[in-house]
Amino acid sequence: MTNKVTLTQFIIEQQREFPGTSGSFTALLNDIATACKKISHYVNRGELIGVLGSAESENVQGEVQKKLDIITNDIMVSALNWTGRLAGMASEEIDEMIKIPGHYPKGKYLVAFDPLDGSSNIDVNLAVGTIFSILRSREGIDADLQDFLRKGEEQVCAGFVLYGPSTMMVLTTGHGVNAFTLDQDIGEFILTHRDMRIPEETAEFAINMTNQRFWEPPVQRYIAECLQGTEGPLGKNYNMRWIASLVAEVYRILTRGGIFMYPLDCRNPEKPAKLRLMYEANPMAFIIEQAGGVCTTGRERILDIKPTDIHQRVPLILGSKHEVERIVRYHQEN
Ligand code: AHG
Ligand code: MN
Ligand code: MN
Ligand code: MN
Repeated sequence: MTNKVTLTQFIIEQQREFPGTSGSFTALLNDIATACKKISHYVNRGELIGVLGSAESENVQGEVQKKLDIITNDIMVSALNWTGRLAGMASEEIDEMIKIPGHYPKGKYLVAFDPLDGSSNIDVNLAVGTIFSILRSREGIDADLQDFLRKGEEQVCAGFVLYGPSTMMVLTTGHGVNAFTLDQDIGEFILTHRDMRIPEETAEFAINMTNQRFWEPPVQRYIAECLQGTEGPLGKNYNMRWIASLVAEVYRILTRGGIFMYPLDCRNPEKPAKLRLMYEANPMAFIIEQAGGVCTTGRERILDIKPTDIHQRVPLILGSKHEVERIVRYHQEN
């Protein structure tokens, strides 16, 4: 049997090399991995168990929830709230911070999560995922909002699980980015992609083009130049992808480079951005930077933003270093 390094073995070995997190951190990651294996099972079975389609309810985001938005949220909460490792949680699907029930012990970690990212894809059988961000809290207390509203720079861990043709977990604890593929035969995440690095150059962009009339000039300028191909100032022919699933776009960029943009738009002054800082932008920013990429709003580094609300939205531009730096320059010149 080849030496298949499991997620648990990898985390313990990383802790030996980089002491700083505790045994309860390893246990917390295992709890999250167990929840995601369960989510993978539900996502893979789909209509066989009647979990597709709309739940006819609306979340705090103003989105109509899919049944699986709610099911996956409940799987995450019930996998984590009893463990004694958390001081609190936050979820895309729940308005307020999620307190640990009084009869359970409190721990020193906070988890913010998007239980089902890209959920508009679930009924058309396209890739979806779960995104999580881990902060350290004050020990053994009920976390309050201020414990959560910390810069992304303070994350101790960020990861996502992509439920695609294979189920994969991508993880960083601040020492590079590693990816694990779920071995369905033994029910373990196995290390398959060690120390992932994003190519600094790219000729592939991901953006929802239907929002073009709402973009700011720097983004208009950049996309127009991409579409001019070799005749334009960028001097190369670009390819476009849009999967409408952040986890799938980020994983593609980790494997072959690229730039993803969900920029500011003037469509809705109350909600000038779509993606959420605490459980989408921050965890992805930590992962992207740890893999040698850049992650910005166009005007500031995502990980430097001081949050004001757990459901705060931000413009998100991430990917290959040199390409994202060009966009930042265009914002500065604007
Ligand atoms: P979620 O399904 O968790 O609400 O997130 C969906 C996000 C993100 O995954 C994706 O990149 C983006 O929404 C797609 O937005 P459009 O549907 O507007 O293209
Ligand atoms: Mn949603
Ligand atoms: Mn999402
Ligand atoms: Mn979601």
